[in-house]
Amino acid sequence: MDSNDFASEERIISREKLAEDSNLEKNLRPLSFDDYIGQEKIKENLDIFIRAAIERGEALDHVLLYGPPGLGKTTLAHIITNKMNVNIHVTSGPAIERAGDLAAILTNLEEKDVLFIDEIHRLNRNVEEILYPAMEDFAIDIVLGKGPGARSVRLDLSPFTLIGATTRAGSLSGPLRGRFGVVNRLDFYKVDELKEIIIRSAKLLEVDIDDEGATVLSKSSRGTPRIANRLLKRCRDYAQIKANNKITKEVAEKSLEMLEVDELGLDETDRRLMRAILEKYNGGPVGLDTISASISEERETIEDVYEPYLMQLGFINRTPRGRVLTEEAKKYLGQNSNLPYQQKLF
Ligand SMILES: Nc1ncnc2c1ncn2[C@@H]1O[C@H](COP(=O)(O)OP(=O)(O)OP(=O)(O)O)[C@@H](O)[C@H]1O
Ligand SMILES: [Mg+2]
Repeated sequence: MDSNDFASEERIISREKLAEDSNLEKNLRPLSFDDYIGQEKIKENLDIFIRAAIERGEALDHVLLYGPPGLGKTTLAHIITNKMNVNIHVTSGPAIERAGDLAAILTNLEEKDVLFIDEIHRLNRNVEEILYPAMEDFAIDIVLGKGPGARSVRLDLSPFTLIGATTRAGSLSGPLRGRFGVVNRLDFYKVDELKEIIIRSAKLLEVDIDDEGATVLSKSSRGTPRIANRLLKRCRDYAQIKANNKITKEVAEKSLEMLEVDELGLDETDRRLMRAILEKYNGGPVGLDTISASISEERETIEDVYEPYLMQLGFINRTPRGRVLTEEAKKYLGQNSNLPYQQKLF
């Protein structure tokens, strides 16, 4: 089998959701706090808030969940809803084009329902303004008529819970952010947590994986459950065809090699990004737009998808004058200098 057949055209370690993830995620998505591994502090807090709200017979306070893609924001929103035993209405920032669309959604909510708005940082300004009184007073103001005769009427809503999710809390307006009672940042997962996720998923996928195999995959998962599950799935294919359906250390390593993902979870795009800073800009500081142009990746993608993990590894620092490559990153690139891009230089 050619390694190109095995690696999909899309990046295996992309944190964004790929088409193939949809079914997989439905099957593997934890439905309760007990199955939701890691993020202990967040779970503990939410559990208290939820129980208090239930005891008082009130809607849960509005919740904002933020953090890089694939860390479990959507999953958490569903778990909260299950626990509150209410209905969830799912939409997203870009899907709500006009203020009237949001007004229609809001007036249809029943008491204590959850309204989940994904990518909430991408709401239109005038749509967002409808949310302020809705969140604060459970009411919306509707303007009837036009010109001098126009008048505004206030419509009461059922008390509801807004759960907002975003990969970039920094892009959220102050007034919107300030109206969330509970704000939670999801962090990258630790290796042993990812391992637990992989072992749980392997059971659900009915594939055998040993401890060492799970360790290898968890280390390459970039702190991200979505990537852990994706790597597991690819590995399962390999194990099925070549290794009697059992994922051992060797099988895990072999599949990662074919996927061109290394033991830190970095792939060619990460290395290209770091090499560009090192070789074209002498290790930095260099501005994000310049990096973006030199490796032909969108600025937003670099900021949301690649950088957070490289920063977590201590490979890149953000400074006021731009991005700087660290000594650890240079060491890493030196050790991996046998890769194609470098060869072109000689
Ligand atoms: N804590 C967890 N324990 C076990 N599995 C998890 C956990 N968090 C996430 N997952 C798995 O990872 C998948 C991706 O999570 P989810 O879709 O909730 O991420 P997200 O933060 O909403 O990502 P995006 O920003 O792209 O919308 C889930 O389907 C689930 O299988
Ligand atoms: Mg999501």
